[in-house]
Amino acid sequence: MTAVSVEQYKAALGRFASGVTVLTVRDELDDHGITVTAFASVSLEPPLVLACVAQASYLHEVLMRQDHWVVSVLAVGQRSIATRFSETGRPSARLLLADVPHRRGSRTQALIIEDGMAALECGTEQRVAAGDHTLLIGRVLDVAYVADRGAPLLHVTGSYTTSMTPREVSRRSTGDPWSD
Ligand SMILES: Cc1cc2nc3c(=O)[nH]c(=O)nc-3n(C[C@H](O)[C@H](O)[C@H](O)COP(=O)(O)O)c2cc1C
Repeated sequence: MTAVSVEQYKAALGRFASGVTVLTVRDELDDHGITVTAFASVSLEPPLVLACVAQASYLHEVLMRQDHWVVSVLAVGQRSIATRFSETGRPSARLLLADVPHRRGSRTQALIIEDGMAALECGTEQRVAAGDHTLLIGRVLDVAYVADRGAPLLHVTGSYTTSMTPREVSRRSTGDPWSD
């Protein structure tokens, strides 16, 4: 059997379009955050989500110690936030959000980025080592907010984009997101 090359893997998975989130967590020293596209829903009952974090990242070390975190789902106008939270050697999340509306989550004490599509406060239920990443399975402790208009920031083939107009999102937000 031929081994799959890194290039093949990246090319194929790069064609899987995803939303863009920022995962934030607070520890005893500071607030931290990382851009994450490897985010998914897992279970409705109980409400569980999944975030995959690279073991080599600084956030991984924090998330091994801290059980409470926030996932903010970014809107199309928040591309610069995604860029900030993916830069190596980035400063504290508080500094990165200095000019961005945000607040602290009551359930997690982590920073919630406002004006996105949605934000979830989560508590780690399970950590599963998988290759060079760790799967964080989190229980949704609170839905901090859900936008009733706007368009999600998307990422596909290495670029940020949007393929939905605000009107499309508004129409879809009234129904079951899995129904069509
Ligand atoms: C669009 C995009 C999506 C990303 N998605 C993830 C992800 O799902 N999980 C992850 O661990 N890192 C992801 N990263 C990488 C991190 O955001 C960050 O760049 C990386 O951890 C380097 O930061 P560090 O030096 O603090 O480790 C993504 C980066 C970009 C630009």
